[in-house]
Amino acid sequence: MAKIIAVGKSLSKYNVVISKNAITQKNLMAGLKAKNKILVITDSGIPKSFINDLKNILKKSKKKVYFYEIKEGEKSKSFSTYSKILSKLADLKFDRSDALIAFGGGVVGDITGFCAATFLRGIDFIQIPTTLLSQVDSSVGGKTAINIDQGKNLVGAFYNPRLVLISTKYIETLSDDEYKSGLGEVAKYAFIGNKKLYKYMQENSDLIKLKKPQALETIIEESIKSKAKIVTADEKEKGLRAILNFGHTFGHAIEAYKKYKGITHGAAVTLGMVIAAKISLYEGHIKSHQLDDMVNLLESLKLKTDHSNYSYENLKNYILNDKKVSRGKLNLVLINEKGIAFKTDKYNPKNLKKALS
Ligand SMILES: NC(=O)c1ccc[n+]([C@@H]2O[C@H](COP(=O)([O-])OP(=O)(O)OC[C@H]3O[C@@H](n4cnc5c(N)ncnc54)[C@H](O)[C@@H]3O)[C@@H](O)[C@H]2O)c1
Repeated sequence: MAKIIAVGKSLSKYNVVISKNAITQKNLMAGLKAKNKILVITDSGIPKSFINDLKNILKKSKKKVYFYEIKEGEKSKSFSTYSKILSKLADLKFDRSDALIAFGGGVVGDITGFCAATFLRGIDFIQIPTTLLSQVDSSVGGKTAINIDQGKNLVGAFYNPRLVLISTKYIETLSDDEYKSGLGEVAKYAFIGNKKLYKYMQENSDLIKLKKPQALETIIEESIKSKAKIVTADEKEKGLRAILNFGHTFGHAIEAYKKYKGITHGAAVTLGMVIAAKISLYEGHIKSHQLDDMVNLLESLKLKTDHSNYSYENLKNYILNDKKVSRGKLNLVLINEKGIAFKTDKYNPKNLKKALS
């Protein structure tokens, strides 16, 4: 049975449907209805068999369906790709009764969403995320973006999809690194307050490592429930949403220090969560057994937790460049004894240095 989770408020509310067989004509039509033309954006790394399956499903819809493939990788989340997609939409004479489908990971989802948000001041789009990270994170919450030379995600819009369809079958072909990258984000939801997910991951790490469909459905559903609750309460990132950044200040610093090479986003965030948990311990918010539990869970999933390659000296410039710096003081997301995350600028900077020593 498919799981359905509602996200957002009133007009911009949308459903996330999760099941191994979520990608059906019936499910897709719920988000397309009277739409005439559809442009599916996908990338060169997505297995061709998945693209062919989607083509066959859409064929039955009797709508005009076009596919547009971008090159896989973060570099495609650029102004130049954005501009090419917009030109394609204009050439195909898309109007507001037409729609886009993002079929891929977070790169495809972010750029497709930004095209949808801005073409003709907004056309509909559907997310079909195909990586674990995009399934549990980027496809839900309405953040769309492209990168510019000065930084990642500096241009974008909050724009909700009409529908998100999540099939666990896409996870089967993911590389080990991409799978683990998503698992890091899943663990984040467990650490910032989803106790059910925490317990499930502790008790079922083997099933998760084996990518068993039932285990995947459970961790994806629980992750989205957590994210849905937070982004529905704070659609435009005015407050609560900050807790989703647990581990991200340090994770982003590690990614930037490594020049975005040789480490996935989720792997960097995983190290960032360990650092943030250590600061939480040194600040007296959690007990040492809680830090041990977190590290044990990450290690049981074969995620790397040793951040000794990244010293305070290595990371400090990147940390202080973070978007979370306000009036010269870095805001941190820490956790407390009850497993609740909170944003604070009240901490002893010595503890930050100690966590990175
Ligand atoms: N909008 C948000 O809220 C949000 C949140 C987190 C991350 N992001 C963004 O998401 C992006 C990262 O997303 P990602 O981790 O999905 O990376 P990605 O989109 O680059 O995908 C990773 C790789 O996996 C391949 N791939 C996709 N599906 C596959 C499948 N089923 N089988 C095999 N290979 C497959 C892709 O071709 C790509 O090479 C970043 O740009 C980041 O900024 C956005």
